Amino acid sequence: MIANLEMVHNNGVQVTGRVTTIENIDTQSGSSYAKLTLEDRSGKLLAFAWSDSCHPSDFCINDVVKATGLFQQLSYKCVLKLQSCEQEIYYSAIDLLPASLCSDPSLLVRLEHLISQITIPPLKKLVEDTFKDNVLVKEFLSVPASFRHHHSYEGGLFRHSIEAAETVATSTVGIYPRNEHQVAVVAALFHDLGKIWTHGKSFRSLLDHSYLNLEILAPRLAELDMVWRPGADMLRHMLVCPHDNRHDSLVIEEAIRYADRASAGLDARQMAFANEPAFKTCVKFGDRRYCRSQEYKRAA
Ligand SMILES: [Fe+2]
Repeated sequence: MIANLEMVHNNGVQVTGRVTTIENIDTQSGSSYAKLTLEDRSGKLLAFAWSDSCHPSDFCINDVVKATGLFQQLSYKCVLKLQSCEQEIYYSAIDLLPASLCSDPSLLVRLEHLISQITIPPLKKLVEDTFKDNVLVKEFLSVPASFRHHHSYEGGLFRHSIEAAETVATSTVGIYPRNEHQVAVVAALFHDLGKIWTHGKSFRSLLDHSYLNLEILAPRLAELDMVWRPGADMLRHMLVCPHDNRHDSLVIEEAIRYADRASAGLDARQMAFANEPAFKTCVKFGDRRYCRSQEYKRAA
């Protein structure tokens, strides 16, 4: 990981990172070089690629590359002078999420922990492949979960999704069968994924986001169908369950509904009391009143 590299002059390293910025620079002597930012979820570093080692046109934004080079002290910064660089195909989607995309990088650590609990191989592949979709991930990590209610700030959707998945993970493990528990964790993680369309830049408001969950994940669900159709159908069902309980339900879906409401309610309550004095116990926020209890204090 980038944060663990010893960034000292002349230290040789090999590192896998995602290219997040590229600046091609022509020098007065007629040669050219590229200034790159390489990132993973732990941090970022600046790298220089001279045309005699790696050609600047070899790189594109979002490429994941395996880079070898030497750290060089330039002014006050230590930068990586690339000696070789090649496209990396096999990598951990979560490790290579750029920290700069996420308003709170600690959420990426929590995501990694969640995914480590998914042990059914095709289900884990579905999650990792989803996080390899650069366009989707950029939206998922940045859009709000609502416009005026809970998690209504940049990155709110991702925080709400992690909170809901963690609550499902801890409240259902060892109680429900392994397959239902793991599918429910994934469903909670992606239960509002459709909001990248209803609350993102493209802003589509005609359809409920829970149905868009299915459309966005359709290619990966189709792949899951090939190896585990019951699992794929269970996931489809759970992906719409928080907002649609008219049909036959799986009991574990109650845990997803609760996790969704608990995360949303706690965040809304936090916003409601944000500017209120400590003694206040009830506040109106939006169309609801939120209450909180006072800490226990021993009578004098
Ligand atoms: Fe939600």
